[in-house]
Amino acid sequence: MKLQAIATGIVSLADHEAHARTTLDANAWSYFGGGAADELTLRANARAWAHIGLLPRVLRPLAGGHTRVRLLGRELAHPILLAPVAWQCMAHPDGEAASAMAAAAQQAGLVLSTQSSTPMEDVAALVRATPGHGPLWFQLYVQPDRGRSIELVRRAEAAGYEALVLTVDAPVHGARDRERRQGFRLPPGVRAVHLPENPPAAAPLRPGQSALFDGLLQTAPTWDDVAWLQSVTHLPLLIKGVLHPRDAQQAASLQLAGVIVSNHCGRTLDTTPATAWALPRIADALQVDVTLLVDGGIRRGTDVLKAIALGASAVLVGRPIVFGLANAGAQGVAHVLRLLRDELEIAMALTGCRTLADAGADML
Ligand code: FNR
Ligand code: LAC
Repeated sequence: MKLQAIATGIVSLADHEAHARTTLDANAWSYFGGGAADELTLRANARAWAHIGLLPRVLRPLAGGHTRVRLLGRELAHPILLAPVAWQCMAHPDGEAASAMAAAAQQAGLVLSTQSSTPMEDVAALVRATPGHGPLWFQLYVQPDRGRSIELVRRAEAAGYEALVLTVDAPVHGARDRERRQGFRLPPGVRAVHLPENPPAAAPLRPGQSALFDGLLQTAPTWDDVAWLQSVTHLPLLIKGVLHPRDAQQAASLQLAGVIVSNHCGRTLDTTPATAWALPRIADALQVDVTLLVDGGIRRGTDVLKAIALGASAVLVGRPIVFGLANAGAQGVAHVLRLLRDELEIAMALTGCRTLADAGADML
């Protein structure tokens, strides 16, 4: 892994995005930069955070302040995690290894995708070799063959992953116009290393049957699989991709370790509400204390602070990580994380929050 410098003039996550457009080829850009259909949700996410105003308090004592939070029984240096993002070797040859090193160096949590292009054991070894690293979680897509899901879970347990994140909002790929227009293809040498290279062919359909409902969705996970997963692992289980308060309530009734409010940043169903809209509604609907996380369009330290004020314990960032990676490998990812951390500290100081426990709805 060679050291790469950050191009001059990049001082924000938006700058990283603009620069990544020039470093990624059109094929990779259609995948990493795009969303589903008209990309309304993709745009709505970032706009929704931007439209929430912050009402600062002044003259409060701020000395000794910090960004620390508690998450699943661990104290973290700050509430920012890397969201699971597939095929990172397509953004940079160092791929997930670079993201992992940057996350560990910046004490950020890392959620590794099932569709990682780097083996989970290699990623875990890099993170765990760094003192002070953040939480290390594995994102699970339930596999059509449940035995394969168990194999992934066992590998994650053995490699030292501390929690499982079950993604529930993508039983099927969204209608990705941008990818189809581009004719998106995985480049040679990049693949989802945890999944079979040649999956078994689907059973032939009878006339009139739907490839989706009578094919792929026959094996899509349901709430029964959530309970089943809980019964086969000792790892805490979170679900990712919840927008409806009733689903959050159901997750709470199963005593899941956490719920990640997410719309996959507009890559699955277009026209879903922004996560900044959904988060407070879910927080309000929960009778019991459930750990809530949120992602989608978080691009500024002020967005992180707003998410915490609306009831999240932590946030995840996806695309900006890939853009940093594309721009400067591990240094680029570390830079993205450092920018967000610095902006969060500044936002706290300027709103009168000594700690994140001081951030509440009254400041919005
Ligand atoms: C994703 N996301 C995702 N989620 C997941 O659970 N498993 C995955 O493999 C992927 N892969 C993936 C690829 C790419 C290119 C993107 C942009 C996103 C969704 C991701 O974890 C997260 O929910 C969003 O990316 C968060 O929104 P932002 O920060 O990208 O705006
Ligand atoms: C995506 C899948 C991998 O968003 O989650 O592309």
